[in-house]
Amino acid sequence: MAVFRGTFLGLVVVTLVVSATLSAAHPEGFNFGWGSRWGSKPSTDHHGGGHAPAGGSHGLFPQFYHSSCPQVNDIVISVLQRAIGKDPRVAASLLRLHFHDCFAQGCDASVLLDNSMTILSEKGAAPNVNSLRGFAVIDEIKAELEEACPLTVSCADIVALAARGSTVLSDGPNWVLPLGRRDSKTASVKSSNSNIPSSRSNLSTLITAFKRQGLDETDLVALSGGHTIGVAKCSTFKRRLYNQNGNDQPDSTLERSYYFGLKSVCPSRGGDNNITPLDFASPARFDNTYFQLLLMGKGLLTSDQVLLTGNGRKAAELVKTYADNERLFFQQFAQSMVKMGNINPLTGLKGEVRKNCRRVN
Ligand code: HEM
Repeated sequence: MAVFRGTFLGLVVVTLVVSATLSAAHPEGFNFGWGSRWGSKPSTDHHGGGHAPAGGSHGLFPQFYHSSCPQVNDIVISVLQRAIGKDPRVAASLLRLHFHDCFAQGCDASVLLDNSMTILSEKGAAPNVNSLRGFAVIDEIKAELEEACPLTVSCADIVALAARGSTVLSDGPNWVLPLGRRDSKTASVKSSNSNIPSSRSNLSTLITAFKRQGLDETDLVALSGGHTIGVAKCSTFKRRLYNQNGNDQPDSTLERSYYFGLKSVCPSRGGDNNITPLDFASPARFDNTYFQLLLMGKGLLTSDQVLLTGNGRKAAELVKTYADNERLFFQQFAQSMVKMGNINPLTGLKGEVRKNCRRVN
């Protein structure tokens, strides 16, 4: 931690200034002024088959690299600092990458595999295509780790470490991270498509999707708080603005001024790749404003707003609690991230430690 404190503080200051400027300068636009660096790069690849339950520690433990690669976290953090310094959105993209890895056949780095003779890449699955980012940063971390500790640190652990580091570097919570995941030799487009919920999901669909992974309603609400950083494309919330229920009407739960602002970023025709923050109050800072915005009807995705407005008293209560108490949100987020990171890992002799995260050895 002490190693990156200086730059980290610098980043936080920049973040705060940018956030403050943003909310003041774009009261109705909700477009994000960090230019093309925030534009999403399409993934070029396609498709693979699988499943996944969760819970328990599954043989993972925090000191896994204690003697084999003691500098693992320092290397991850130094690459992250560099990458986030160049493109602040990288932090959000890497946090999301861990979620999309874990929900498709477990946290096994299956999401990183490119198309090949034997692999149909998950990068081509519906929730990932033209959307998932951060692969080049994972490659950079892997390259440095291969120099320092050859064939030792798995790509699945790198993704988990990068998600934690990104959270910390965005001013969010830290946690003790169990390690020792190994990398899959397969990918599953089918598992990505069927297990990662869509932005149009209602609350019961979200609860079911998380339950399938061994995660409960508290995990769902806390982990959705990951949307305190990063952005989403117009195509993921367009229906809310123009035709939420097939009657050419907007989603009635959208706050009025927010609705008009979003329409200027996301026209009814075209503009599908235009992006806007998931938490416009502080898009690069990990905090609890995401929940405060939900209370104002300013959640970006249907899947965000239904945590408050869906048919579930518990979820709505949790949204209020986290909006009110950042400390509690941080604590629960950390706990739920560990739980998510424990979904179906490969350990022992299963899988392998890839040399290159994009292909099996
Ligand atoms: C509850 C179900 C969830 C749904 C339906 C959902 C959906 C989405 C969608 C549609 C986007 C925008 C993608 C795009 O426009 O390209 C997004 C972005 C994001 N999601 Fe989620 N998400 C969920 C849960 C999570 C979880 C559990 C995390 C992490 C803990 C997470 C972290 C993020 C982050 C950080 C971004 C911004 C990524 C970036 O800027 O590159 N999401 N999510």
